[in-house]
Amino acid sequence: MEKYVIEGGRPLCGAVHVQSAKNAVLPLLAAAVLTEEKVVIRRCPRIGDVLGMAQILGELGCRTAWEGDSLVIDGADAANHEIPAALARELRSSVFMLGPVAARFGRARIAYPGGCDIGLRPIDLHLEGLRRLGVSVAEEGGYITCSCGRVRGAEVVLDCPSVGATENIMLAAATGEGTTLIRNAAREPEIADLQNFLNRMGGKVKGAGGSVIAVEGVKKLHGAEYTPMPDRIEAGTFLIAAAMCGGELEVVGADADNLSSLLHKLRQISCKIHAFDDKIYIAGGKRRLSPKLVETSPYPGFPTDLQAQMTALACVCGGSTVVVENLFETRFKHVPELIRMGADITVRGRSAFIRGVPRLHGADVCAGDLRGGAALTLAAVSAEGESTVTDLRFIDRGYCGLEEKLAAAGARIRRIRV
Ligand code: UD1
Repeated sequence: MEKYVIEGGRPLCGAVHVQSAKNAVLPLLAAAVLTEEKVVIRRCPRIGDVLGMAQILGELGCRTAWEGDSLVIDGADAANHEIPAALARELRSSVFMLGPVAARFGRARIAYPGGCDIGLRPIDLHLEGLRRLGVSVAEEGGYITCSCGRVRGAEVVLDCPSVGATENIMLAAATGEGTTLIRNAAREPEIADLQNFLNRMGGKVKGAGGSVIAVEGVKKLHGAEYTPMPDRIEAGTFLIAAAMCGGELEVVGADADNLSSLLHKLRQISCKIHAFDDKIYIAGGKRRLSPKLVETSPYPGFPTDLQAQMTALACVCGGSTVVVENLFETRFKHVPELIRMGADITVRGRSAFIRGVPRLHGADVCAGDLRGGAALTLAAVSAEGESTVTDLRFIDRGYCGLEEKLAAAGARIRRIRV
């Protein structure tokens, strides 16, 4: 096991470079199953979730190899349609494989997916969508088994705009017969990235970014090389870090348009922000006002994946803040740990009531999930005194070298083996 040892309280200065987006890369890796030709994902982050998906691709019979920072997937010999239970339970995004594996092999079998424990995280919309496309889906003994001929295009109306279900249906429909219309589709930018990638492979997808997506099935998809979009959640994590620690940080390789809800909040609390080209510059104010209300909602609303980090920031703002988590039921695991660091927070149901304190103090805390772990790291980097953050495997699922980037900006943080 590894942990961070952090000596907090120093401002962040300089530049940090943003990795490619975890949530864009994971569905692209599932899309690679749809072709027998080579797929190259450039600037592919070596994070836990990507390594897990690469392992699943290997189990399906794809050859995967790293060439520098590119991940190369060769699906010529893929023949297996079963995803081992241990891998599926480890990784939520394993469910993305259902659509493409069923579309390519006419069948797919997977154990119910696991991943970060932040709530119920059902997959009913994925399965209902696949059924609408003519896939027969059986659920038995903790496994899902799909079988189909060629996927048939259909209209799929989602009860809520699920990111994963939208992507799974796009993946299943890409090589189907006829056109699929997804209504009430999620509008996250990562979905537009998947559309771009499928089109690069010879697919015919349009509408992503809006709430109706049209997928015209094609007979075959071919190989492609692709550089995924930047990680808006990683970029947001660094911006919040600068707001907490003070100093001046330039976040390089970020897209400000994708972060408007966060940038709006940071400006509200008196941070100075300038966005130009692919850079976002932030000067964290000394005396920050409270953001008052932060309510998560689907894109373009405030992202649930930045809720924990924003909660940590609100802890050291002047005044009170209410954070409402509308997407996931139990996404406040970081709160008891923040309280150990001197935060003043009460949780009632899906709301956290935060009264700002001048400073947090160092403590030994434990990451309980990916973004919660990032939030605790930021809290420790901004706190007075020494902290340790344990269970880095959660943080490593989504951040590549978080400590190296923070250290390069002046934080005193190191990873040690325990
Ligand atoms: C994706 C992101 C995750 C982010 C989340 C919300 C990836 C790999 N992960 O997760 O980082 O936190 O979007 O922005 O892209 N729901 C159902 N039935 C379903 C599917 C979802 O009821 O079949 C509900 C969920 O319980 C949740 C809401 O829909 O309340 C949104 O979930 P969804 O958008 O599907 O999240 P994920 O795709 O799992």
